[in-house]
Amino acid sequence: MNYDVVIIGAGAAGLMCGLTAGYAGRSVLVIDHANKAGKKILMSGGGRCNFTNLATTPANFFSANPHFCISALKRYRPEHFVELVERHGLEHVEKAPGQLFCADSAKDLLNVLLTECEWAGVALSLKTRVERLEVQGQGMRLVTSRGRIDAGAVVIASGGLSIPTMGATGFGYDIARQFGLAVGETRAALVPFTLSSQWKDRAEALSGLSSDVAVRCRGGAYREPMLFTHRGLSGPAMLQISSYWQPGDELEIDLLPGHDAFDALIQARRETPKRQLSTWLGERLPKRLAQALVEWHGDDGLLAERSNASLEGWATQLNRWRIKPSGTEGWRTAEVTMGGVDTSAISSKTFEVQGLPQLRFIGEVLDVTGELGGYNFQWAWASGVACGLSV
Ligand code: FDA
Repeated sequence: MNYDVVIIGAGAAGLMCGLTAGYAGRSVLVIDHANKAGKKILMSGGGRCNFTNLATTPANFFSANPHFCISALKRYRPEHFVELVERHGLEHVEKAPGQLFCADSAKDLLNVLLTECEWAGVALSLKTRVERLEVQGQGMRLVTSRGRIDAGAVVIASGGLSIPTMGATGFGYDIARQFGLAVGETRAALVPFTLSSQWKDRAEALSGLSSDVAVRCRGGAYREPMLFTHRGLSGPAMLQISSYWQPGDELEIDLLPGHDAFDALIQARRETPKRQLSTWLGERLPKRLAQALVEWHGDDGLLAERSNASLEGWATQLNRWRIKPSGTEGWRTAEVTMGGVDTSAISSKTFEVQGLPQLRFIGEVLDVTGELGGYNFQWAWASGVACGLSV
């Protein structure tokens, strides 16, 4: 078998690259070891796929080389992808500012990509393992579980390590190393935190409760909802800050974002001295959380009975609650991989490897990781298009 382009990975980036190269007149084969294309698309966004963010900028991405993503993101913008899905009549909703989700199901989005691949003449080979990849003259040769394939170019779009049960592997990193590229340290990101002992029990007792918070860690800061779980802390605020967190770090959580708790407590003591502290808390926080705080700190009573020092202690617990996670839930539930194939030897315009233009890397396998909110798919589309146009 002979193709102009063989893409390894039928996920978001691989399918987008395939259909772009197909429309550009290339013969394209997309290979995946899974039994289905786009499994992560199907499970993303709670089954409705947050497929882009209208406010995407390079500042929404982490990378050792922060300039790398600029060119592709500029060339293929969120509105281009919206235009593509709207041509297929896909209905979408803006659940939070800029975050576009399928109105019905992520299946509709995957169907758009698969239909486009079909129209562009892209061949798809599922349940296919790549056993070997080697340079063959100006092209590449693949030895697969379905036989030998010669390709003008091979694009690695095999994604990161998150959710191994969905087919994630370190394949892309192994190939990068085989061809002399560096692979930066990888870690699970956009992932819930676990807590241990007493704090685990406390979180478990509040499991399912969500509260708007501001969280900080290592220079990262987000104001979003936090969710207590039976293992620890999750919700958008925690997923976002997990991209900054390193083992051993404390999180600083503001349970009353936008309010100076000390000033508010002093004022409340002056104006409503007969009010219980727990009542005051219950008016500002979800009731169960307010009750839990009083239990944890064992310190209810009338506001009038509180000293300044006691109110200051409470204000610290409310505005600057410090908690040290024991870890994260890891690859099992992480949405993305932080780190990956070092981009310094890869063209940000064509995604080819310097000195080996017949080998390319796109999507999450690269050291480019977006924040929560549709940015990771936008990177998959943008890198797929840039590579597909140039391959
Ligand atoms: P992707 O992982 O999509 O595809 C890689 C493909 O390569 C897979 O089909 C895999 O089977 C295949 N593959 C791997 N190893 C192989 C091998 N050895 N041989 C052959 N094939 C191989 N992002 C976002 O923007 N909005 C969202 O709502 C969400 N939600 C979300 C939820 C959950 C639960 C997860 C896990 C992730 C998200 N994400 C997200 C992140 C998003 O899914 C992710 O960034 C993109 O899918 C990355 O696209 P890629 O095409 O690079 O990899």
